[in-house]
Amino acid sequence: MSSKSGRHFLQIPGPTNVPDRVLRALSRPTIDHRGPEFGRLAREVIEGLQQVCKTSGPVVIYPSSGTGAWEAALVNTLSPGDKVLMFETGHFATLWRNMAVRLGLQVDFVPTDWRHGVDPDVVEAKLAEDRSHAIKAVAIVHNETSTGVTSRVVDVRRQMDKTKHPALLMVDTISSLASIDYRHDEWGVDVTVSCSQKGLMLPPGLGLNAVSEKALAAAKSARLPRSYWDWEPMVKDNKAGFFPYTPATNLLYGLREALHMLFEEGLENVFARHDRHAEATRRAVQAWGLELVCLNPEEYSSSLTAVMVPEGHDADALRKVILDRFDLSLGTGLGKLKSKIFRIGHLGDFNDLMLAGTLSGIEMGLAIAGVPFKTGGVVAALEYLASV
Ligand SMILES: Cc1ncc(COP(=O)(O)O)c(C=O)c1O
Repeated sequence: MSSKSGRHFLQIPGPTNVPDRVLRALSRPTIDHRGPEFGRLAREVIEGLQQVCKTSGPVVIYPSSGTGAWEAALVNTLSPGDKVLMFETGHFATLWRNMAVRLGLQVDFVPTDWRHGVDPDVVEAKLAEDRSHAIKAVAIVHNETSTGVTSRVVDVRRQMDKTKHPALLMVDTISSLASIDYRHDEWGVDVTVSCSQKGLMLPPGLGLNAVSEKALAAAKSARLPRSYWDWEPMVKDNKAGFFPYTPATNLLYGLREALHMLFEEGLENVFARHDRHAEATRRAVQAWGLELVCLNPEEYSSSLTAVMVPEGHDADALRKVILDRFDLSLGTGLGKLKSKIFRIGHLGDFNDLMLAGTLSGIEMGLAIAGVPFKTGGVVAALEYLASV
């Protein structure tokens, strides 16, 4: 299609649709990042992020993608050769492991079939057998964006507590924060890793770490080299509303507006909206007779749904048909799921009719691409949406 009318459907699981209010906020003139107006802006967004992460501790904001926030979590708390327990829940967990190895950490990487989340009992068993406390951190992905599987952080924490093991708990909430219930303090998380372009409804460009007292204490003796990512000058300067280097001022305007939107709706309502859209999407997939990647209903993701395409059919060819014909972008399969699955993002600034349009594009695309399926997915989703 050479010329397109109407609005593009950006239904990848991030970056997500940026609301008009946020786009307008981003376009305000840039101000002096060492002046009083900026100080007020910085304090407001940091406080807002504390509410979203549900923490009273510091939240450090970087001009970075999520990958930078991953690195910040590791280099601030660990030393060369430290042992880290990680779980191969999918592509993003694998990338974080690869980073940890490149930084000189020793990773015990527990395999999964990429269709389940972190097994809390394995966390308990691994920590219980580590009598010398060689494991310094357990680092997990809350919502694995490559598979649509949400790990049970509360259960992981409970199992860690049973062992009384002192390892830090680090959680990647990149595709869960502000979409799926998450509680940094209550769940005893030491470092929360996140970024701007998913539930926070911003363009890419901000990474963040929420940091516990225990993690701040670990940072005092951690010896991995760090400079740009160092929490210490950030936490110190942030107290007065400033940053040790030039912040992404306009993204912070956007963040302030996005936080206003989240609080106007109410975080609980935001989570319920995501749960409802995810359930409607799964009903559509079920009615189509297609298979979800996630095998455990307790681990279904509310921010995205990953769908298997039947053997002998190419998910990327299907995605291409849908993009060309309907101007609808769906997430590609990543890593070993390449060509086997497509991912439907239903997070961020999203509503019933956007979901109806998304599912309609997929149902038409399945027919055009010749993928075997049963009709009725859209109807099943609409019936559900109309009933709750
Ligand atoms: C769960 C998860 N972790 C980490 C990342 C990496 O973030 P970024 O691409 O912003 O560096 C992503 C990106 O989609 C992600 O979904």
